[in-house]
Amino acid sequence: MSSQSTVVLITGANSGVGYAASKAIACASANYHVIMASRSIEKGNAAISAIRAAGIKGRTSTIQLDVTDESSIAAAAARVSLDHGRLDVLVNNAGIYSQAASLKAQLENTFATNVIGAALVAEAFAPLLLRSASPYLLHVSSTLGSLAVSSDPQRFDHGLDARAYRVSKAALNMLMVQDSKALGKQGVKVFAVCPGLVESNLRGEGEEQRSAGGKAGDPDVSGQMILRIIEGGRDADVGKFVDRDGVVPW
Ligand SMILES: NC(=O)c1ccc[n+]([C@@H]2O[C@H](COP(=O)([O-])OP(=O)(O)OC[C@H]3O[C@@H](n4cnc5c(N)ncnc54)[C@H](OP(=O)(O)O)[C@@H]3O)[C@@H](O)[C@H]2O)c1
Repeated sequence: MSSQSTVVLITGANSGVGYAASKAIACASANYHVIMASRSIEKGNAAISAIRAAGIKGRTSTIQLDVTDESSIAAAAARVSLDHGRLDVLVNNAGIYSQAASLKAQLENTFATNVIGAALVAEAFAPLLLRSASPYLLHVSSTLGSLAVSSDPQRFDHGLDARAYRVSKAALNMLMVQDSKALGKQGVKVFAVCPGLVESNLRGEGEEQRSAGGKAGDPDVSGQMILRIIEGGRDADVGKFVDRDGVVPW
């Protein structure tokens, strides 16, 4: 069906960074087919309607994918295999910032999505990436997971405790290194990507939380950064943890 297209799958594509990346990629060229994966098919359908109204050039489709549900991951991978026969780009974007009452619950929720979910999605789609002539695997991480930034009092930090979230993103960065070692020698370009502090539902759906008290930027900038990576503009930094400005220290 999409043999001539570059097939891109983005998890958590109905909102925030995932939505912005879907839009940037689908607007960039008629050659892209963006599969917008959402855990809620209703939210996915609403997102795809909004994106089509934005005047995109490429093709878009939705797929149900809950990264904490192994049967949902397996069904999505089987569907993409059937429809496209391969995957060129996987953006492992779905993530949460748990505000559960206890640290234990925060850690459990956050790891289930941000680490275990990301690992299982990458594992399930790796065989499809290996069928691509130029595959990319992006794990959407956060500077909040950088040990170097967190432990350096001289560096800018958001000041959030966000303990479980930070630990999950540090673990995700190690997952990226392992994926890069395993898949890199088979031609997959693997990155950990910090999209920057941008407006989204990550911190909550109220205006104050969405904008991080006015500090958060435009997620379209993150979408453009992700587009640049998958178009080869950051290939010099493959295997690294990158943001808009360069390479983030581990
Ligand atoms: N925004 C920032 O300032 C910022 C900064 C650094 C890193 N990040 C990272 O950017 C990524 C995207 O977050 P965002 O800021 O765009 O937040 P967001 O607006 O809350 O979007 C998160 C997306 O992930 C989805 N999701 C959550 N749990 C899922 C699951 N179990 N299975 C599938 N999808 C799931 C959400 O679906 P629902 O809509 O159904 O909840 C939503 O589509 C995350 O990995 C986050 O850690 C964001």
